[in-house]
Amino acid sequence: MLQDKRILLILTGGIAAYKGLDLIRRLRERGAAVTPVLTRAAEQFVTPLSVSALAGEKVYRDLFDLTDEAEMGHIQLSRSADLILVAPATADIMAKMAQGRADDLASTLLLATDTPVMVAPAMNVRMWDHPATQRNLAQIVADGVSIVGPNKGDMACGEYGPGRMSEPLEIIAAVEAHFGPRPLSGKRVLVTSGPTHEPIDPVRYIANRSSGAQGAALGRALLDLGAEVIFVTGPADVAPPVGAQVVAVETAQGMKEAVSAALPVDAAVFAAAVADWRVEGASDKKLKKVAGNMPALQFAENPDILAEVAQMGTGRPGLVVGFAAETNDVVDNATAKRARKGCDWIVANDVSPETGIMGGSENAVILISDAGAETWPRMSKQDVATKLAQRIADALA
Ligand code: CTP
Repeated sequence: MLQDKRILLILTGGIAAYKGLDLIRRLRERGAAVTPVLTRAAEQFVTPLSVSALAGEKVYRDLFDLTDEAEMGHIQLSRSADLILVAPATADIMAKMAQGRADDLASTLLLATDTPVMVAPAMNVRMWDHPATQRNLAQIVADGVSIVGPNKGDMACGEYGPGRMSEPLEIIAAVEAHFGPRPLSGKRVLVTSGPTHEPIDPVRYIANRSSGAQGAALGRALLDLGAEVIFVTGPADVAPPVGAQVVAVETAQGMKEAVSAALPVDAAVFAAAVADWRVEGASDKKLKKVAGNMPALQFAENPDILAEVAQMGTGRPGLVVGFAAETNDVVDNATAKRARKGCDWIVANDVSPETGIMGGSENAVILISDAGAETWPRMSKQDVATKLAQRIADALA
């Protein structure tokens, strides 16, 4: 897939640089030629010798290395690649890219290039969440840089949250998608994702165990195929895909309004785990504990967003895809659900606790359409997303 592709891989300083070594190996396994560049800080984490041994090429380290200028100037080095990949990318290199600074080899290459650039951020969660980093991120995305990750998880520094570099295989998938066909370019696709929170009072709410992982992976896969993605998300654990138009909502009603505002779209995929009921007359003051006096919650039905969109007349998206979270009789229940809601496809999955699917990294789905029920093997949520995005592209072609 990456046969004969030339990748200039810039490793910047961070503990994730060790994953860069694996990345080099996997890129080369797929046929890519990797020219490595190390920043001074990266050399604190991986040695030039190990990097060049794995890449099978000289490592470039210094802007003012005259031998390199004679062999290959930095302008030529930056332009001879098919893709510049910065992995791991620190907050510092992202700041330099956003500002157009060129004070070392890596930043100079990034400023001098007319080659597509992909960045895999890796940093402490506070640094990632800092408004300055988010400003820099928005700037480099606006400048046309594509971003992969970061993931949420335990970090080397002992904290938890977004900032962990994507795994090498996720980065490879993004690189392959970059070089692959972009059949969804010019298409507008809506994705709903994550749980909803239905308030009981200002501090309490009813929620569910959806992490938003499947929806985020799907958004990413649709972007990779060139779609414009409107990503309407409830309060999810997983960060929304960078590059999508993200609309953050909390409740089912908020999600319905955001979905209406996003229409018209070519396709709509409803991956959100929407609460079927909300608490009627949620209190605007915190309910106080009164001994022996339990509050009785009254529920009201939430709008069924999928059914409303699937059954709208004019303006209905060309393809409407729902998910069905079931714990028993998966095919029968999901087939009935598809008919009841009026959507084109249902992606059914078994969310019984023993499957580990809800909140986990894998999924086992059955795609139900006019053609019947098609069982997909258990695979990562990322792979389900890639396969489903490709199916959507085929359907819209
Ligand atoms: N859905 C929606 N709005 C709702 C409820 C569900 O858009 N108020 C969508 C979900 O995003 C999903 C599909 O409908 O694509 C099915 O969700 P699921 O929870 O499996 O089905 P329910 O309609 O809630 O049915 P049940 O709880 O009886 O299984």
